[in-house]
Amino acid sequence: MKKLFKLILILSFFSLNSVQTFAAEKVDYLKTDWSFKGLFGKFDRAALQRGYQVYTEVCASCHSMKYLSYRNLSEEGGPEFSEAAAKAIAASFEVADGPNADGEMFTRPGKLSDKFVMPYDNVKAAQAANGGAYPPDMSVLVKARGGGVDYIYSLLQGYEDPPSGVTLDDGVYYNKYMYGNKIRMAAPLSDGIVEYGDGTNASVEQMSKDVTTFLMWAAEPHLEARHQMGFKAIVYLIILTILVYFSMKKIWSRVESEV
Ligand code: HEC
Repeated sequence: MKKLFKLILILSFFSLNSVQTFAAEKVDYLKTDWSFKGLFGKFDRAALQRGYQVYTEVCASCHSMKYLSYRNLSEEGGPEFSEAAAKAIAASFEVADGPNADGEMFTRPGKLSDKFVMPYDNVKAAQAANGGAYPPDMSVLVKARGGGVDYIYSLLQGYEDPPSGVTLDDGVYYNKYMYGNKIRMAAPLSDGIVEYGDGTNASVEQMSKDVTTFLMWAAEPHLEARHQMGFKAIVYLIILTILVYFSMKKIWSRVESEV
């Protein structure tokens, strides 16, 4: 019996560990309690909805999210806006379509099946509007940066006056979490820049957390389903271990001991 417990212990240790990342962190990022971390982690719906608001009202004027459709906003596991709300959001955007029967392009209100509208027509236009820097697409940005959510959360709050001796060119800002500390994006957030419908105070810290939660969901829309699967797999493995242990005892009990 002792052996069995040991086995279960070892097994659950490895399976729990594999859920977390081993990435050694060199930078001291700002920490916050993410609702989606850990084996039972789930997204906070209200945070996702607020995060979408921050994205669309602040970040979307420069950053695209080309892999998202308006439909995703009402899907299970995401911000879960009602379908009517997602339709209204889509319809509030002008989408280029065509050509029509006369061979002309036209614009129409967005539909659920449309992708998020892009702020710029192409990379060159984006660079031209941002002093040569390209605002990266944010669909999977969380996955593309080393520190993931902690990095983005910190970056948004990491703007500071440059230390003496550091000179910055025009359009370059000092950010203590950016690689090399120089970033060509002005601090996008300031207290109260959005007005939350649910009465939450729109501090820079709160908005950073909400928009980063939204970006995490965009990069990993099936996180909740994955966590559920992981949990089921662990329960399954534990039951299997118990069964295998007892059948092993049973089989070997018929063998005469030689001693
Ligand atoms: C006025 C345009 C503009 C707005 C608005 C804007 N950004 Fe940016 N962003 C940029 C540009 C340009 C860069 C590229 C900076 C660079 O390469 O130095 C960038 C880069 C970034 C990066 C990547 C930094 C890295 O590691 O390379 C993140 C993350 C980011 N922005 C998040 C946001 C978020 C979140 C918002 C909304 C709250 C936002 N941005 C709003 C222009 C903008």
